[in-house]
Amino acid sequence: MNKMIKDIVKKLKPSATLQINEETKRLQDQGKKVYKFGFGQSPFPVPEIVRNELINNVHQNKYLPMQGLIELREAVAVYLNKKSKKKFRADNIIIGPGTKELMFLLHILFEGDILLPVPSWVSYGPQAILGRNKVHWIETTSSNNWFPTAQQIENIVQLNKNKNHLLFLNSPNNPSGTICKNLNDLGNVAKKYNILILSDEIYSELSFSDECDSISNYNPEGTIISTGLSKWCGAGGWRLGFFAIPDSLKNIKNSLKILASESFTSVNSPIQYASISAFTKDHSNYVKRTKKILKEIGMYVYENLKSNKILINKPEGGFYLMPEFINNKFQTSSEMCKSIINETGVALLPGSEFGFSENKMLARLSFTDFDGEKFLNNTSGCKEINQDILSKFAPNVLEGVSKLKNWAENI
Ligand SMILES: Cc1ncc(COP(=O)(O)O)c(C=O)c1O
Repeated sequence: MNKMIKDIVKKLKPSATLQINEETKRLQDQGKKVYKFGFGQSPFPVPEIVRNELINNVHQNKYLPMQGLIELREAVAVYLNKKSKKKFRADNIIIGPGTKELMFLLHILFEGDILLPVPSWVSYGPQAILGRNKVHWIETTSSNNWFPTAQQIENIVQLNKNKNHLLFLNSPNNPSGTICKNLNDLGNVAKKYNILILSDEIYSELSFSDECDSISNYNPEGTIISTGLSKWCGAGGWRLGFFAIPDSLKNIKNSLKILASESFTSVNSPIQYASISAFTKDHSNYVKRTKKILKEIGMYVYENLKSNKILINKPEGGFYLMPEFINNKFQTSSEMCKSIINETGVALLPGSEFGFSENKMLARLSFTDFDGEKFLNNTSGCKEINQDILSKFAPNVLEGVSKLKNWAENI
């Protein structure tokens, strides 16, 4: 029966997130406490107005246009134009069941090589394999905030000048929690060599400083912006994301539309109708408050872990940090993470899942193990989120950090 499965699929292994969930379950079944720092999803509820709109639209039962509901695409275009002085129209937007599916279809249609920074989000690599494209992994450094330099990109592209290249750039970043500071240089090199950029901005609304720059500001004609509701709106399970594709890339948009129509058809209708309100109503208070909570928790974790045993870059957006544990005890980061969960109950994802070589003792820490709804509802009048509030509403994060720190000091 195994022969019925294509080799290209057989080579893929189950995602590390699933493995860590299994390990978590095993320990919990034994009655042990687990600090769930492995899995990353928004801890907050979808804003009430948007939830109500879903209820109001539950009767919507017709297939919608394959590019997405026109009113939603118009709302998305206005939202993007307001944010970044662009001139997108509804026709530049394609709605998908999460950006993950749209990225997968982009891999399927793209003819050329894929440039992936190390670290990269866990799905870019497997999707590139399924798209049968060659991947160039680009090692980054903490001193460049875990993003590639323009020179590194240039070095790769110069070796294959006849090929097309597609660069994935994700800022704020999963897993490092950092923001790319050299967008201008990267935009220029992309322009010079006609490199297509997929700018994964799924965490951009959760940038801890007020402004979040986009590479599309430096190379608008060569950049597809990818974002959606999953992170800032607490709606990962709603499965709604979109690409904003400039007119200069309309052939790509047209091919994506065909692939969409031959795969998911269109995103579920009630969700599309309800999502209009996510882009047209004012959610600034919700975003401000959720961002503040994430920032304060992220800073707490950062301040309390960083030491000569644990190196970390400061969190700048989203809900992750990427600690490096200084030790000679383990051969691989997976071995280290297994030891950490067994000795402390803290679940982390190994750096090797994000493209790092196995012997780098890096891991992704997601600081979302708290009840976001409770946190929001009980702190609406608070001007400041101090340690008392954190210990009341994010006790697992504080406890897990203390266990991890202790572990690192004693290996
Ligand atoms: C960096 C990054 N890009 C894309 C996605 C996928 O998001 P969506 O829910 O829109 O498919 C995620 C989700 O974890 C992510 O972390």
